[in-house]
Amino acid sequence: MPISSKLKASLTRTSWIRKMFEEGARLKNIHGSENVFDFSIGNPNLEPPKRFHQTLKKIIDSDQPGQHGYMSNVGYADVRQSVADYISKEQGITLGADDLIMTCGAAGALNVIFKAILNPGDQVICPAPYFVEYGFYVDNHGGTLKPIPSTPDFYPDIDAIEKAIEPHTKAILINSPNNPTGQVYSQSHIESLSRCLSKKSNANGQPIYLISDEPYRKIAFDKIEIPSILNNYENSIVCTSYSKDLSIPGERIGHLAVHPKAEDRSDLMQALAMANRILGFVNANALMQRAVGHMQGEHIDAGIYQHKRDLLCNGLKNAGYDFTIPKGAFYLFPKSPAADDVVFVNALQKENILGVPGSGFGCPGHFRLSFCVADDTIVRAMPGFEKVIKQF
Ligand SMILES: Cc1ncc(COP(=O)(O)O)c(C=O)c1O
Repeated sequence: MPISSKLKASLTRTSWIRKMFEEGARLKNIHGSENVFDFSIGNPNLEPPKRFHQTLKKIIDSDQPGQHGYMSNVGYADVRQSVADYISKEQGITLGADDLIMTCGAAGALNVIFKAILNPGDQVICPAPYFVEYGFYVDNHGGTLKPIPSTPDFYPDIDAIEKAIEPHTKAILINSPNNPTGQVYSQSHIESLSRCLSKKSNANGQPIYLISDEPYRKIAFDKIEIPSILNNYENSIVCTSYSKDLSIPGERIGHLAVHPKAEDRSDLMQALAMANRILGFVNANALMQRAVGHMQGEHIDAGIYQHKRDLLCNGLKNAGYDFTIPKGAFYLFPKSPAADDVVFVNALQKENILGVPGSGFGCPGHFRLSFCVADDTIVRAMPGFEKVIKQF
């Protein structure tokens, strides 16, 4: 066999999101893109803030030499300093440039983290449903992802997490605001989780890291507060990207931040820097680093996504769908009106509506709709949603 047997196996269980994306392309070819209601993929439909392009132009027009060379694997010091200053102010914790590594998006950051901390057979626990790529990222570095079902309203079930922790549990991976549910964890959830991890780290004789994947931190609705992880747990690593909040996922830029008091912090930072290098990223994109360095604290208007959420939720509620209202991100995760979520998603597809079965996120019995689409797509899809629910 020309390819690795592991990749061969992964290809056969390729992600539902990709499958639906490809199905969307097929349907758009047949029916025209305006007649296909594609809620399958989390590709932001807003343009980046105007200042992003102005910033890029300014950087390109400057005649400073050496802008395109290799750099330190962790990224430009001045960019890391401006990110550290912003987080310090936002979260009331003192971070320095040396606590930060610029990465190729949150996906790059997660791979760097797992490469740096996992030994073969180590376990990473995450609440389910979860972003499906997590399984691949953990497996890339010899670990095993252990999903633990969340409560019915998609909060982490901390008792269940505590029971699932074993001697080789290396990290808990959380994501709030969440993909696929839009749920936001409260300060009291984070405090309970931190208490549980401190207790279990002591029992294990080594730290259990709390890894917080936060690409949707700035996409929060109804003025909800997103608690700071760094302010609650010392062995924490936070990663994020500018993909969703600056609407630049193709540019592959993000960062990770390590708590200044994390155990063996110096070794950890060195391992993370090395992982960034030997995974082949070497360093995050130079031009994009400079751009985001100048844009700390700026993001798209989350109110626009809140309006889309309301359009979708009101329409689906009137049609009889049952769901938890998202508090952030741009995903809705309703209960499937059919016992089998794949059957239901296939029925939607017959109305040219594309969603993703909950099975694709480790949570059958639901389906995911990405509402980072035009308002008109939501409005025009509604008759299809109303028609399909009546079939079950
Ligand atoms: C929860 C979550 N984490 C990570 C990523 C990867 O984002 P990035 O583009 O920053 O690599 C995504 C992308 O959809 C996501 O939803």
